[in-house]
Amino acid sequence: MDLNLYALELLARDKLARARAEAALHASVARHATPRDGLDRRALTVRDAAEADLAQITAIWNHEVLWTDATTDTEPRNARAEREWFERHPALYPIVVAATGGAVLAFGSLSPYRPKPAFARTVEDSVYVERRHRGEGLGGLILSELIRRARAHGHRSVLARITSGNRASMRLHTRHGFRLVGVEQQVAMRRGGWLDVTIMQLRL
Ligand SMILES: CC(C)(COP(=O)(O)OP(=O)(O)OC[C@H]1O[C@@H](n2cnc3c(N)ncnc32)[C@H](O)[C@@H]1OP(=O)(O)O)[C@@H](O)C(=O)NCCC(=O)NCCS
Repeated sequence: MDLNLYALELLARDKLARARAEAALHASVARHATPRDGLDRRALTVRDAAEADLAQITAIWNHEVLWTDATTDTEPRNARAEREWFERHPALYPIVVAATGGAVLAFGSLSPYRPKPAFARTVEDSVYVERRHRGEGLGGLILSELIRRARAHGHRSVLARITSGNRASMRLHTRHGFRLVGVEQQVAMRRGGWLDVTIMQLRL
């Protein structure tokens, strides 16, 4: 099923249409899911990101910038840009990582939804998993931790802005209680094509 159609059906109030859209997405999960057995869960920790993690976070991020449409960023980040990004995330807007030993397997962050002070308590989440570790539940671990912290910090809503076609992210957010707000059509030009952006919201 076309992802926009899925999104539109989720918007429908009709329970049957919603159930049909959910089932279609579920079928796509079954087709894409990878085995969840390569990870040593005993060694896994979810914690605040530290400066020493930045090079690995940058590598995970830049892969998506260069090769996929998961982000609307068009330029890879260099060390300086990554450091500035790190400094723009005090405790109220955390960056967390899932790591085994010194290896960062996934990261996520909360950022203000808009720079205006009125939006300070509405945050946007980001979740990125190192490509060899997708489908192992790490995205879920990171998003759960971000939601927990958003609640603890008194934020009001978490918003996700998801580019068209990103079924894994839509599924991840749906599983964590996010509801579809709408689809912005052809708002981002990237890698030679227009992208729609789906907005999902979790009210805390
Ligand atoms: C989206 C992303 C964060 C999900 O993290 P993950 O660790 O792979 O996902 P999880 O293992 O926690 O699974 C989350 C859900 O998505 C589903 N899923 C995972 N990969 C999928 C895929 N390729 N297609 C459809 N569904 C998928 C899982 O089955 C699971 O659903 P379930 O709980 O109903 O079984 C990860 O794939 C990723 O980093 N992608 C690239 C970056 C990106 O798109 N970030 C989000 C930007 S909005």
